[in-house]
Order: sequence, then C-alpha cells, then structure tokens
Amino acid sequence: MDAITVNNVSKRFGDVRALRHVSLSIPEGKVYALLGPNGAGKTTLIKILTTLLAPDSGSVAVGGYDVVENPRQVRRIIGLAGQFAAIDDHLTGRENLEMVARLYHLSRRQARERARSILEQLDLAGAANRTGRTYSGGMRRRLDLGASFITSPRILFLDEPTTGLDPRGRAELWQVIRGLILEGTTLQLTTQNLEEAEELADRIAIIDHGQVIAEGTAAELKDRIGGSVLEFRIPSDGNLEKAMAATSDLFTGQAEADAAVMRISGAVDSTSQALKEVVRRLDREQIRIADIHLRRPTLNEVFLALTGKEAEE
Ligand SMILES: Nc1ncnc2c1ncn2[C@@H]1O[C@H](COP(=O)(O)OP(=O)(O)OP(=O)(O)O)[C@@H](O)[C@H]1O
Ligand SMILES: [Mg+2]
Repeated sequence: MDAITVNNVSKRFGDVRALRHVSLSIPEGKVYALLGPNGAGKTTLIKILTTLLAPDSGSVAVGGYDVVENPRQVRRIIGLAGQFAAIDDHLTGRENLEMVARLYHLSRRQARERARSILEQLDLAGAANRTGRTYSGGMRRRLDLGASFITSPRILFLDEPTTGLDPRGRAELWQVIRGLILEGTTLQLTTQNLEEAEELADRIAIIDHGQVIAEGTAAELKDRIGGSVLEFRIPSDGNLEKAMAATSDLFTGQAEADAAVMRISGAVDSTSQALKEVVRRLDREQIRIADIHLRRPTLNEVFLALTGKEAEE
C-alpha cells in the first residue's frame, strides 16, 4: 500500500509557480527523497503533505487520509522536522523533548522515559542537561529530529535534515535516520545533496522549478542518461585541448575536461565502440593515455544532464 499519494498537485505564490502538476506515490515503509536545488519547491510540497499549506489544485492522501478533508487524522500519524530546527534555546535538551511529549499528551512519566530513550538514541545523553543555546548546529538538528519522532509516527517528513552540517555531523545524522528506517518508518526527506539521496533513499524524485523531472531508484535514474561514462587521463605534460578536439564528437553530450587532473569524461552510447575509437584517435594524434575506463554515471551527472546545472552550489 502507498503511504503517500500525490495526484497532480499545483501551487502558486503570486507569479511564482512553486509546484506544477506534481504526482508521486510513496510506498509504505520506504525512504523517498525529493532532490532539487534551492527554490525547486521541496518545502512547499512538504508543507502540503503535512497539512500546513493547501494545494491550489490536485489531491494528496497521507496514510489514506486526504490532507485537505482530514487534516487532523493526518497529523495524528505524521512527524515533521522542518527545514530550520525549532528548539527552545532556554530549555535543556531533555526539557525540549519532554515538552514536546507533553504537547502530544504523554503522561509525565511517559514523557520522561521517551525523552531519555531518544536522547540515548541520538547520542545526546551526555548533553541532556545543557540548554539548547549551548548546542552545536549538528546537535540542534539531532534534537529537532528527535522531537519529530517522539510519538513514533508512521510517516516522518524531514526537510533538508543535514543541510549546513559538516561531513561528520551529516554522517551522525544519517546513523540516526538509518535507525528509524530499521524501525519501519516511512520517510520522506528532501535534500540538495546527491550523496544523501543515494545513501538513504529507496526512490528519488528529482524536482526542479516545481516539476518532477525524473523519478526512480538511483540505478534507474542513472540508466536514464544512457549507457556509461567514458573517462580517460593523459600525462601531465600532455595537451588536453588537443585530446578534447580529437575525441569530443564521440561523446553523446558535452564532454568535460578537468585540467587539474588532465582528465576528459563524458557519456557514451555504444561503449566498446567508443572505447576503441578513443584509443585509436589518441594514438593517431600521438597522445599518450595514462588511464582509460568506463564507469556508471554518478547521480550528479544525471542531475546535470537533466537540469543543466549542479545539484549543490
Ligand atoms: N510563502 C511564500 N510566498 C511567496 N513565495 C513563496 C512562498 N513560499 C515559497 N515561495 C516560492 O516558491 C518557490 C519554491 O520554494 P520552496 O521553499 O518550496 O523551495 P525549496 O525547494 O524548499 O528550496 P530550498 O532548498 O531553498 O529550501 C520559490 O521560488 C519560493 O521563493
Ligand atoms: Mg526548502
């Protein structure tokens, strides 16, 4: 069964078409990533799915409930960690979680127990009695994430959970998120980070200018740009421009030259044919090859091919 069904949803803010005919279905118990650059419409969609904003047209069902007709039922089964951590700086980590638990009508004892176990899970037990003000950015994101799953919601929404964190903070948060995945929570997360989408998500929707421009597993998305990437390097005293001129027409799209590592790469169709031809032409031009191979495209190359720009600036 699908946990979330989005059917032809559009939303506009004045002249800005934040969402244009978006349709998606998110299976129960899976992790689904909405991947897109700044202003793509990710937060707008999350707000609609979590009943904070009504769509102009189209329909959305979360856990079988229509978000416009049954917002209260929807709210009962979801959790949300918004794009900007909403924690109270004057309260300690423990007090923050206990307060949220009390808001959800847990008894004082249950609230204390739930806060304790979540702080443990988030690796924040040691900082439980410090005020939010003293928390680092990564700790704040973790605490906010903890607050979002205090009621063990069936469906959890995380809006850019790791944006702004350093690689270590990101890895720590991924650990927590993986724990939630094991518990069977359906997770919808947004990200501008391709590695994050690939690392955590079962399926990915690439969203740009309010439209879903591609959808599937990471492997399926990579297949979309067809075949493989051919990549070769020449020695550091070689002529990269000459190598490019000799081979550029063999690539299906624009080939990329990276002078720092003397490398040329690009998508190719008929892989063995292209490989042979590159070798033949470089040989003819008397350009030596330091290294040549075929590989699967990265998600970043998929993104670039589909949107014409990098995912993260
Ligand atoms: N309340 C609003 N009023 C006017 N315009 C809005 C409003 N909310 C969003 N927008 C516009 O809608 C578009 C989509 O915004 P949204 O916040 O959904 O993007 P996003 O994908 O979450 O971006 P980011 O990665 O920067 O968070 C943007 O052009 C934004 O300026
Ligand atoms: Mg956003």
